[in-house]
Amino acid sequence: MSESTIGHVVVPGTFDPVTFGHLDVIRRARRLFPQVSVAVAASVGKNGSGPIFALDERVGMLREALCEQGLEDGVSVLPFSGLLVEFCRELGAGGVVKGLRAMTDFEYELQQADLNSYMAPGLESVFVMSNPKYGYVSSSIVRELASLGTDVGFLVPSCVERHLRDHFRS
Ligand code: PNS
Repeated sequence: MSESTIGHVVVPGTFDPVTFGHLDVIRRARRLFPQVSVAVAASVGKNGSGPIFALDERVGMLREALCEQGLEDGVSVLPFSGLLVEFCRELGAGGVVKGLRAMTDFEYELQQADLNSYMAPGLESVFVMSNPKYGYVSSSIVRELASLGTDVGFLVPSCVERHLRDHFRS
């Protein structure tokens, strides 16, 4: 990997589903870099359980959400499976951007960043501190509230709210 300026970064995640917190990180990644690829992981989540939404649904929700929020310019959404560093290499992306909420995020993210840097020297890990407005927002909280029939319109865009309602109604 060259030492040149980074023009393309990846914002990876499970996005099960995408929240206002994720969208804030994507928006800020786009302010910092001209090209952003949002990489939606096919794999299981951190706690070992599988995502509630299928990969194509999570990709579709992200595209809808970006459109709803006016964030499509310079941002694309792609599914991926396997190693993140491989995916970045295939895309020619020079960095990974992630959001940090609390110290608990930091330990997990540091471990991943160290591992990724070992596997792909030169691939930068860039962290943005989460907007305090969204510090408490997580996909798991959204899923839990939605499963209890609570209105989650303050945590996710309306297109995602609709998908959640359909999911938990069926
Ligand atoms: O939204 P999440 O669940 O915090 O995202 C985690 C994700 C998908 C970014 C991470 O698990 C990942 O990069 N998975 C791909 C597999 C991989 O490369 N693992 C090694 C890095 S630790």
